[in-house]
Amino acid sequence: PTRIILDTDLSMGAGSDVDDGFALALAHADPDIQIDLITTVNGNTDVESATILTGVLLNRLGIHDTPLVRGSASPIIHPDKERTPLPHVLAQKEAARAPNPGYAPVAIVEHIMANPGEITLVAIGPLTNVAIALLLEPRIKSAIKELVIMGGVFLGTMYSRDKPGEFNVFSDPEAARTVLRSGIPQRWIGLDCTLRVRLSMADALELKKSTSSFAAFAGDATISYIEHQAVRFPGRPKTDSIPMHDPLAVAVLSKPDICEYKDMAVSVITGDGEARGVMIADRLETPSPPVPNCRVAVDVDSEAFRLHFLTLIQKL
Ligand code: BDR
Ligand code: CA
Repeated sequence: PTRIILDTDLSMGAGSDVDDGFALALAHADPDIQIDLITTVNGNTDVESATILTGVLLNRLGIHDTPLVRGSASPIIHPDKERTPLPHVLAQKEAARAPNPGYAPVAIVEHIMANPGEITLVAIGPLTNVAIALLLEPRIKSAIKELVIMGGVFLGTMYSRDKPGEFNVFSDPEAARTVLRSGIPQRWIGLDCTLRVRLSMADALELKKSTSSFAAFAGDATISYIEHQAVRFPGRPKTDSIPMHDPLAVAVLSKPDICEYKDMAVSVITGDGEARGVMIADRLETPSPPVPNCRVAVDVDSEAFRLHFLTLIQKL
């Protein structure tokens, strides 16, 4: 199996996105993936909440031995972006598996250096922990097998949360830039593809009928999240499906054909202003293109993803 570290800003249970939780469940369900370490980061929610909610989900999934290590509480440059825990999340601490001691960037470095050429780092939140790990120990560049990132938008302009760009990148643009400039072999799975892999109300109802208690729970979580969209984004057209951003970054590990890729030379705007966090992606189509620094997913087989996801989640 592919041995992974999963770095997440999981917020399932905080009334926010459920996709990090589904990504963790999918990785656990996939016999071709072995989760060695789970690390948390500030992003969709504060890092304390992300750690508690990941601990709750690990108990639900029956994952008792895989280490869980808390990471950075704020982006590398703007500490004012640190979020604070919500009382209803803190109240779930009792139901959560306690995290292991330590600090995620250090744990990431130690695990990669102890297993050279073996570890794929899957980053499904802002890239803060990954960038700090790179700054702490640059030799992880040659010891890591691959970095797979849910992040970015590459094929045009797109707004997420009313800002141009993609959340995981604009939440810590300096971290994204550190990663892009690192020379690490990296694959980016961005909004261009992740917005096209969706769970619908019909899928949720199918999950609810499953004999697997996790699948039934996932069905309920999907339904409440679809219903929550109307509250979260008033004025937008009503939707009956939600994107599975982070699970796609897990699915591509064992299903190499789900996405098509293109080498690109990508940079991130880090100054202040409206374009902060926007990516500039050169698709290398000019006669003398720049040197590529990453592989970018440019197309996705949505139905293949959906079948893979629904099949594996119902095995839990
Ligand atoms: C990314 O932002 C988060 O809301 C999702 O979990 C995903 O990682 C999508 O832009
Ligand atoms: Ca995420």
